[in-house]
Amino acid sequence: MRGVLVTFEGIEGSGKSTQLLRLSERLRRRGVDHLVTKEPGGTALGAEIRRLLLTRHASGEIWAPEAELLLFYADRAQHLKAVIRPALDAGQVVLVDRFEDSTRAYQGASGIPEDALNHLRDLVLQRLRPHLTVLLDLEPEQGLTRAGTRNEALPGFQETRFDEAAVDFHRRVRQRFLQIAKDEPQRVSIVPAKEDPAVVEAGVWRAVSPLLRSSGFEVEKKSRASKTSL
Ligand code: TYD
Repeated sequence: MRGVLVTFEGIEGSGKSTQLLRLSERLRRRGVDHLVTKEPGGTALGAEIRRLLLTRHASGEIWAPEAELLLFYADRAQHLKAVIRPALDAGQVVLVDRFEDSTRAYQGASGIPEDALNHLRDLVLQRLRPHLTVLLDLEPEQGLTRAGTRNEALPGFQETRFDEAAVDFHRRVRQRFLQIAKDEPQRVSIVPAKEDPAVVEAGVWRAVSPLLRSSGFEVEKKSRASKTSL
């Protein structure tokens, strides 16, 4: 494996997708070979799993927490085999919108015990771990206000996004993300996500660029001609 795996994590509305696009654009301008992908739904089959997970069934039935957990891992196993491992083997920088820590935060907050999470992680990821995880940290009240959509088939989303139960669920999810960062400070970099997107973007770049540089990627600006280029 020659590439670099960078994952982006955070609660809904933390701006992961915006920041991934901005980072991707920055890397494109610098000619860094990279791939942007996401979970759930980073493969053709995974897109089917994503639909099953995030769209409420006409019957009103919702997933049992254990079924939901296994669907996220089914998606991840396929994503690793079909997309992530081949890209890393080809030496690419792989940027993933949500990965393993989302399961630990969300399904952990839904009551799945730690040892079950560890077991499935070891089965599906084997020894692979992200080289870096960017945690975009935000208060749940702000994230939920920002997020425009609802994933209404998931346990945390059964109520409207703005009610106390939903906020409480996301508070627990956020705390779990922060605990992961505390446990693995060498892997997880916390970037406050409350600021203006340009400020957050600079924070993301401060977290990501040293890793890329030390991994042999050419991340300096191609030209100093324009002072406005990022
Ligand atoms: P998505 O629309 O991609 O949300 P976002 O834009 O916030 O990333 O929906 C993904 C949802 O799935 C989100 O609510 C988080 C949840 N999720 C889990 O609960 N466990 C997981 O392992 C993953 C990857 C996502």
